[in-house]
Amino acid sequence: MKNIYKPLKSKIENIVHESPGIKSFVLKPDEEFRFDTGQFIELTLPGFGEAAFTPSSSPFEKKRFEVTIMKAGYVTSLFHDIKKGIPVGVRGPYGAGYPVKQFEGKDVLILGGGVGLAPLRSLLLTLVAQKQNYKRIILCYGAKTPSDIIYKDQFKDWEKKGVQILRSVDKPDTSWQETVGVVTVLLDKIKVDTSKAVVAVCGPPVMMKFGTFKLLEIGFKPQSIYLSMERNMSCGVGKCGHCAFGPYFVCKDGPVFTYDQIKDFPDVWL
Ligand SMILES: Cc1cc2nc3c(=O)[nH]c(=O)nc-3n(C[C@H](O)[C@H](O)[C@H](O)COP(=O)(O)OP(=O)(O)OC[C@H]3O[C@@H](n4cnc5c(N)ncnc54)[C@H](O)[C@@H]3O)c2cc1C
Ligand code: FES
Repeated sequence: MKNIYKPLKSKIENIVHESPGIKSFVLKPDEEFRFDTGQFIELTLPGFGEAAFTPSSSPFEKKRFEVTIMKAGYVTSLFHDIKKGIPVGVRGPYGAGYPVKQFEGKDVLILGGGVGLAPLRSLLLTLVAQKQNYKRIILCYGAKTPSDIIYKDQFKDWEKKGVQILRSVDKPDTSWQETVGVVTVLLDKIKVDTSKAVVAVCGPPVMMKFGTFKLLEIGFKPQSIYLSMERNMSCGVGKCGHCAFGPYFVCKDGPVFTYDQIKDFPDVWL
């Protein structure tokens, strides 16, 4: 019988410094690794611990994949200290990702804040690879300062591939020529027919909360708002109960939920 807790051996092939507290890691698993965009993995640093991350790369690449990690505490700080070539373990992929089939024929709006752009980058790369299936792809991204923006060198390429991009920062520097303010202000600058559009949101809880309220205000239906939720996880496979969320387990039923599914839970925006 397959041991569901046994990690797949992988090597850290490259490390990219994205911003002062965020790094991306290119992982080369010993075997091909398949995931659906929006699913997550448990990444193990042998002898130290593991944590949940959502691959930030395209699911069409099977030989290697990327995770983007923000330094948050014990395990993530250890990941920030490691060097190329270190062996790690990968469990998963787990959960339900973005139902991209249901996005076909629609405008897809992507609303991200900070490291929340990680799962959304995987979604964006998925959509761009099948651009003919979607009406428009629009990315609204916000970060605290210009130096906190991740994937800095990739926006131009996404724009060339037809993605409409709007960015904001809370605190500009002298070179910043785009929007200043919280990411939700970008929603005032776009025109979408909300009856024929879906939106994927990921970021810090406060941004997810006010982003969702603003999206409802401009006419998005709760069932068209896709939220990538985070809860403390342990097993990742619906057995330990750590990630209980109303009647759901985030690891099994999520991490992607529509706002409609979860709007009545008291602890949505923890
Ligand atoms: C499905 C899923 C996908 C995720 N994807 C990413 C990703 O792509 N990139 C990324 O940087 N982070 C992601 N996270 C968050 C990441 O798992 C946590 O930052 C990490 O577990 C913290 O571990 P630590 O040992 O460094 O911190 P700890 O020392 O355990 O804790 C530090 C702080 O982080 C909080 N924390 C711990 N675990 C979580 C958690 N699972 N979610 C939210 N807060 C937590 C603690 O409450 C504490 O405040 C994801 C989480 C989930 C559940
Ligand atoms: S992490 Fe164990 S049930 Fe979800």
